[in-house]
Amino acid sequence: MATRQHLTDKNLALDLVRVTEAGALAAAHYFGRGDKEEADGAAVAAMRIAFQSVHIRGKVIIGEGEKDNAPMLYNGEPVGYGDGPEVEIAVDPIEATNAIAYGRPNAISVIGAVEKGGMFNPGHSFYCKKLVVGKDAADVIDLEAPTRDNMIKIAKAKGKPVGELNVFVLDKPRHIGLIQELRLLGVRVHLHSDGDVAGALMAADPRHSMDVLIGIGGTPEAVITACALKGSGAQMLTKMEPMSVAEQKAIEADGIDISAIRGVDDIITTDKCYFAATGISEGEVLHGVEYKGEYAVTSSMATRGRTGTIRYIQAWHNRKKLATMSSVRY
Ligand code: FBP
Repeated sequence: MATRQHLTDKNLALDLVRVTEAGALAAAHYFGRGDKEEADGAAVAAMRIAFQSVHIRGKVIIGEGEKDNAPMLYNGEPVGYGDGPEVEIAVDPIEATNAIAYGRPNAISVIGAVEKGGMFNPGHSFYCKKLVVGKDAADVIDLEAPTRDNMIKIAKAKGKPVGELNVFVLDKPRHIGLIQELRLLGVRVHLHSDGDVAGALMAADPRHSMDVLIGIGGTPEAVITACALKGSGAQMLTKMEPMSVAEQKAIEADGIDISAIRGVDDIITTDKCYFAATGISEGEVLHGVEYKGEYAVTSSMATRGRTGTIRYIQAWHNRKKLATMSSVRY
């Protein structure tokens, strides 16, 4: 008979990959068609169905999409087959929805899953400051320190001149000052219109040339990112940054400490943490969905906090066969 230890040791990320694959396959049909809602709706519907085959008693804690009224796997929604471990879910069917709608890179379908009680619920916080680096610079960053000090320390930890640091920044009006400051320092600023989960994965990965992610991005995306970084040794420091009085009041009403600085281990407090992602549009972390005759090819990653294992999974989906079995358009 399986022991409890054995059951909780199951690597859920491998099951969750099939759910992000479904989301990516459904969303990819809408690449470049200029319609965010249509793409999001297709991905949500496909993931809802795919979740039914995963043996978990899941509850959505982060159902990203609320802020722009997108269709969503809503907060509190039960997901999964209804047996197996109780887990908390952070899901974004299309992370970087604009990238799909407007034909840009780095859109991914993502899920983080954490043993019940292990995921920080950011309530009504939509935006937070983020600073992400890989393991080699994890101990030197300080979210309260000036940008200049962080860049100097990160460069030193990585053994390179500041001028060779590659820094990911979302290209948003709120970052005009930050971008100017970074350019004055002489770092290589990489501007992306969307997708700071992918940006964080780049900065955290020692094989990628990106060294840092800095700036203000989505708080739900920060929780998802923490699931991905848990157990890797990489670090993300965050601090809530409400963009309106209404957002600030809502967070206060949630009873959340806005001034707290939270790292990966504050956001995800258990190593029974799993992350799955599948590329939708072509990206620097994962390839996008490709169509090869009757097949659709997906590129995914599956990680596990406890062991720090990262798996890359390429799947060839036979669209002809799937069309006879499923209502989802693969
Ligand atoms: P979506 O998943 O909602 O499409 O978010 C894309 C994104 O670029 C995130 O990666 C980022 O954290 C957030 O939006 C930033 O928000 P905003 O575009 O409102 O500045």
